[in-house]
Amino acid sequence: MAHVLVTGGTGHLGRDLVERLVAAGHKVRVFARIPGARGDVEWAVGDLTTGAGMKAAIDDVDTVINAATFSPIARRGGFRPIDFFKSPSAVDVEGTARLLELSETASVKHFLHVSIVGIDDASLPYAKVKLEGERLVKSSSVAWSVVRAMPFYYLLKQTLDGLTWLPAWPVPKAAFNPVDTSDVAEHLVECAFDAKRGIRSEIGGPEDLTCTDFVQQYQHATGVHRTILPVRMSEKAARGMGFCVAHGVRGVTPWASWLDRHFRREGNSQYRNTDCARL
Ligand SMILES: NC(=O)c1ccc[n+]([C@@H]2O[C@H](COP(=O)([O-])OP(=O)(O)OC[C@H]3O[C@@H](n4cnc5c(N)ncnc54)[C@H](OP(=O)(O)O)[C@@H]3O)[C@@H](O)[C@H]2O)c1
Repeated sequence: MAHVLVTGGTGHLGRDLVERLVAAGHKVRVFARIPGARGDVEWAVGDLTTGAGMKAAIDDVDTVINAATFSPIARRGGFRPIDFFKSPSAVDVEGTARLLELSETASVKHFLHVSIVGIDDASLPYAKVKLEGERLVKSSSVAWSVVRAMPFYYLLKQTLDGLTWLPAWPVPKAAFNPVDTSDVAEHLVECAFDAKRGIRSEIGGPEDLTCTDFVQQYQHATGVHRTILPVRMSEKAARGMGFCVAHGVRGVTPWASWLDRHFRREGNSQYRNTDCARL
């Protein structure tokens, strides 16, 4: 069994990842700013932006899974105008560089980095930050893998939750296939220990639908009904906004099942958001 360091192990993907690694019997160390409650992992307290605690965290591990990120959009669950102009790089670029430097001199045999499908074409500053993080990994001397994933369902849900105040929603007619973090975690664990290296199969959800389809399913599940205004756009424009379809590995969880798990119907029209309970 491997000794694995997981950065971002307290995040949405990270929690599913840690769960699977522990279940598979691996020795798991979670690098976190604030330790969590799990008693079946080692907690290494530190900060990727300052380097605090990183040297001790990497000591004696053979596999690093870098799932930490700082996305202001994901943090607040929606876009602000500032997101179209800049995105902080201290975690995803400088933090990744520190982690790679330490991994090169430590006993690390595999550095598995989590990234995002379509960032080569995307124009958002966060995508540029992720691309730079990937570039550092690919030019490192440590044995590396990069796994790109489509946007996660939780982020799609948060974004749509944030629109409920609007009576009409402009929605791109572009196709995409967002994915559940548990499916991504499954793929990552496989990639971590299959002895392959390099650019790995990207992962997306099981359904290629248009954004309007995803929004309709959200509205059906939540009972929040707003007018959908489909917005036609070229494929290039859609890709620039991160809307594309990943053709590699497919997750197994459909959006409707995920929504069903997160919004439990109570009575005729009341829904309870169970996502917060999960956090
Ligand atoms: N969200 C998406 O739709 C999506 C899609 C494809 C790929 N990805 C990639 O998947 C990975 C995980 O994304 P996610 O959405 O699960 O992220 P998330 O929920 O926002 O979690 C981010 C994690 O990074 C940690 N972190 C942030 N700043 C840190 C710092 N200074 N030092 C140490 N740890 C720090 C956070 O710890 P704290 O709890 O202390 O803040 C948290 O554990 C990222 O690489 C992301 O780019 C995300």
